[in-house]
Amino acid sequence: MIGWKSATLGLVGAMSLAVTLTNAQEMTITSPGYTDDGAVMAPTGYREWVFIGTPLTPNALNGGEAPFPEFHNVYVEPSAYAHFKNTGEWANGTQIAKELVLIRQGDDCDETNGSCGEVSGQGYFQGEFAGLELTVKDTDRFADEPGGWVYYSFGHHAPPYAETAEAFPTESCNACHEASADTDFVFTQFYPVLRAVQEGN
Ligand code: HEC
Repeated sequence: MIGWKSATLGLVGAMSLAVTLTNAQEMTITSPGYTDDGAVMAPTGYREWVFIGTPLTPNALNGGEAPFPEFHNVYVEPSAYAHFKNTGEWANGTQIAKELVLIRQGDDCDETNGSCGEVSGQGYFQGEFAGLELTVKDTDRFADEPGGWVYYSFGHHAPPYAETAEAFPTESCNACHEASADTDFVFTQFYPVLRAVQEGN
């Protein structure tokens, strides 16, 4: 029995070492790539980043003309998410992607409000991908931008999206985020996954 017990303790020791190493690695933030002339490279694999929420602003609730009538699926790059979870702050190099997804259209959908009747009930269901945006924080690289946040779009249309993008002017995007977002230019108030991290549950 003594031999069995020490083997178990040895295993526990090895596991906690692995956890320590993983934490250390996660503190290194995976920042985006840039071209020689300073355009950002489109993220790849972002649908496998940490999914944090899906705001929806349908045309039917915006006088028929919402600026973004689609679902907004938002994902945080995993190393930036781990840093936010550990510290409550967005690190330099943080990448957050927002992919737009059309409301599903079909014969079973209501022409006046765009909702569809499906087996789970009447409502809005996701159709096709329709655009990709990215925000990046880097107070060194973008020292002139409020908060160090820059904003990009790789196209407001079906994939394939553009491979690179130029930053928008500060007043086009950054200013609204600065004025209205809850946590360092990020709209944590609309992302239940991030609120849970902040509230420790
Ligand atoms: C009038 C205010 C406003 C402007 C202008 C604005 N945004 Fe946002 N943005 C929001 C809101 C609100 C959210 C979160 C909820 C949502 O998606 O509806 C958001 C979320 C985002 C997110 C997800 C990360 C986050 O910070 O929550 C990205 C990426 C983003 N916007 C990109 C852009 C880009 C690119 C532009 C400029 C072309 C832009 N935004 C302009 C209000 C704004």
